[in-house]
Amino acid sequence: MPGTGHTAGSLGVDSLGDLAGKRVLVRSDLNVPLDGPADDRAITDDGRIRASAPTIDQLAKTGARVVVMAHLGRPDGAPDPAYSLAPVAERLAEVLGRPVAFASDTVGESATATVAGLADGGVALLENVRFNSGETSKDDSVRGSFADQLAQLGDAFVSDGFGAVHRKQASVYDVALRLPSAMGGLVATEIEVLRRLTVEPERPYVVVLGGSKVSDKLGVIDNLLDKADKLLIGGGMVFTFLKAQGHEVGQSLLEDDHLDTCRSYLERATEKGVEIVLPTDIVVDTAFPSDDREPEPRVVAADAIPADALGLDIGPASADAFAAALSDARTVFWNGPMGVFEVGAFADGTRVVAEALTRIDGLSVVGGGDSAAAVRTLGFDESAFGHISTGGGASLEYLEGKELPGISVLERP
Ligand code: 3PG
Repeated sequence: MPGTGHTAGSLGVDSLGDLAGKRVLVRSDLNVPLDGPADDRAITDDGRIRASAPTIDQLAKTGARVVVMAHLGRPDGAPDPAYSLAPVAERLAEVLGRPVAFASDTVGESATATVAGLADGGVALLENVRFNSGETSKDDSVRGSFADQLAQLGDAFVSDGFGAVHRKQASVYDVALRLPSAMGGLVATEIEVLRRLTVEPERPYVVVLGGSKVSDKLGVIDNLLDKADKLLIGGGMVFTFLKAQGHEVGQSLLEDDHLDTCRSYLERATEKGVEIVLPTDIVVDTAFPSDDREPEPRVVAADAIPADALGLDIGPASADAFAAALSDARTVFWNGPMGVFEVGAFADGTRVVAEALTRIDGLSVVGGGDSAAAVRTLGFDESAFGHISTGGGASLEYLEGKELPGISVLERP
């Protein structure tokens, strides 16, 4: 864990002693993608629910009364049916194979009654904690009073929502200040895997970055230039790099503000002997994919993107070059799809990179969020990867070397 000598073991659930009959608040990350109308939402990827289930199950089996707290999306600090965790409660019950009582509020009458009604070994899920503005408030006292109310619902706290540990939020951070607290198994595993990416990784160490925004990845690139041997860059973020090299990128995603930074990274990579691999061909179209229009993909050279075109995937030659660059890697971290993988015409780059990761003889880690969803959507067997993280932003911030409030709060003396 950055900046500390602690190991997950000393902070584990066992450190809380006998939990039989105790109310244990568990922070999970059940922020899953949903589709469909507000009153009939369907979960499109339940990876985070499945990853969260073992800790909940473990606690229930010890006879604890398990009260799960989680967020969904970014509602405005007030109840909004489009962000209700109700469909998640249903799926969680299926995955656990045990009933999950759903509280229709966070700390109100329903939550109090639901928790009071739990038998030993019972499981409840509170409604989206972000329906209360105290959850994400920047004001410590506002967050603190919501955390006080949450803490009333438990005798102990288990932090298991890895995807949210980079957030200094009431159910992640402040509750841990108020109750005996421990690290759940999912967070412990995630941290251990990420530690292997930062402390003496086996070499060659290759990092693949994609996704739409270069601004989300600047910190991690900055840090990885001192650690990785090769950096392969695709996705929407690559166009700022291509432009920084002096190429026109047509209508492709571009973050002008970061051109100088990308240029400086390219220079630093050369100085440090880190190989940055950028695509040499791009799959373009004249419009972003939509339901109203059949895609018309074309492959063009990365240094000759037409003025009316926008890049939507890395091209076939680039995908092969990325796979070749990965072939002898002993450690790989991948975060962010290579293109608009949700649309078949623009999925090949992401598919080829994912396939290459399945062949790695060593540690392959798929960062959370879109890249984790991509491997599942594209039909890959999850067990073919060393580790699929549940945290997108959280794993990036760890690799940037930033302190994660949801972890450091557990480590305080
Ligand atoms: C995520 O999806 O990365 C986590 O659930 C955190 O969500 P947030 O970015 O809305 O805080």
